[in-house]
Amino acid sequence: MTQIRNSNQYRKRVGQEFHHHPLHLKNRLLRSATMEYMADLEGQVTDDLLKLYYDLARGGVGLIITGCAAVEEKGRAWAQQLGIWDDRCIEGLRRLAAVIRTYGDGCRSAVQLAHQGSSKTGYSYGAAEQGYSLETVTAGDIQKTIRRFGEAAARVKAAGFDAVAVHGAHGYLLSEFLSPATNPRRDRWGSSLRNRMRLSLEVYRAIRRRVGEDFPILWKLNTADYLENGAGPEEYAAVAGELARAGVNLIEMSGGLQDQIRLRARLKKEAGPREAYFYSAVAPFRRAVGTTPLAITGGIRSLTAMEDLLEAGVDLIGLCRPLLCEPSLPRRLLSSPHPRRARCTSCNQCLLRIARQPVKCVAFDPFQKIVQQL
Ligand SMILES: Cc1cc2nc3c(=O)[nH]c(=O)nc-3n(C[C@H](O)[C@H](O)[C@H](O)COP(=O)(O)O)c2cc1C
Repeated sequence: MTQIRNSNQYRKRVGQEFHHHPLHLKNRLLRSATMEYMADLEGQVTDDLLKLYYDLARGGVGLIITGCAAVEEKGRAWAQQLGIWDDRCIEGLRRLAAVIRTYGDGCRSAVQLAHQGSSKTGYSYGAAEQGYSLETVTAGDIQKTIRRFGEAAARVKAAGFDAVAVHGAHGYLLSEFLSPATNPRRDRWGSSLRNRMRLSLEVYRAIRRRVGEDFPILWKLNTADYLENGAGPEEYAAVAGELARAGVNLIEMSGGLQDQIRLRARLKKEAGPREAYFYSAVAPFRRAVGTTPLAITGGIRSLTAMEDLLEAGVDLIGLCRPLLCEPSLPRRLLSSPHPRRARCTSCNQCLLRIARQPVKCVAFDPFQKIVQQL
């Protein structure tokens, strides 16, 4: 009886609508950006991508953020990554937005924009060396990349998505500029925190200019790099505060800049029953961003942990691997008569796989057993 009462409470919170203009969501569950490795070799949308997002949209999540799309062709991190560097990408993206709108029962959608930056660092497996170097990139090329983010955001809006998301975490370009461990510059783009965050703020302004005041801009940010000489929660909370004051509509808290597989195994152990890898950053981030919506992603698997996070001041719960495993997890969690948890065991086989193949949950795919026996 107690269990059932508790689960109704959970349903009320996680299943509650979220309204903070201009973000309006049917529940508190967010599909955090997940590289699909399913675009064609020119970065265009394929039927496999449409199917992935059809399943997710029907699964009940409130907001879907796509895997990161490259704002420049030479800023790609993965061979079969979504591209958004050209107006020719809009038509495929229009179909992707349409599949979510048509089958998502009010589910909202966003494309995540990214530039890989230097492929020597970051969240990248098997990326071709593109020769990008933070040390030698010219001020002119930095300005060009800023413009590319703005142009890409305009394409996201033109394709019919509800929001644009920016990958400011995990060692991609913006995160490399933010971290003292990876930004060697001594000019106005490096050294002090103000200089290191200049690129993020300029990218934000370029996007805002192109999408207008009422189009939501979402930002994924590290709470810590977990690197010697890297930045920690204090600096990143300050960055979150600046972005919020500039007008970003949602900050999604994440973390880590290199070697994510080992790092996440460690963070999982440290988090214990709290589950959320970045729980300790909630309070400083909330203080820094004021009333700007906050999401948290990383390790969250049970309704109990989600409830705790909402109680602690977070607005949205981000899920990545659990939705690869079960795209309809939100529907199951929100309608279950018992407190439940995701099936995902965080084994990271999905992450290892996207070095070369389309993403999927390997652990729960019955065909995988056959593959392994061959
Ligand atoms: C296969 C895979 C692909 C990912 N691709 C992206 C991405 O494109 N952009 C991004 O911001 N994070 C990406 N991530 C990180 C996730 O969004 C998320 O932050 C991380 O997996 C922790 O959340 P989880 O415990 O719910 O999986 C990816 C993670 C995985 C496992």
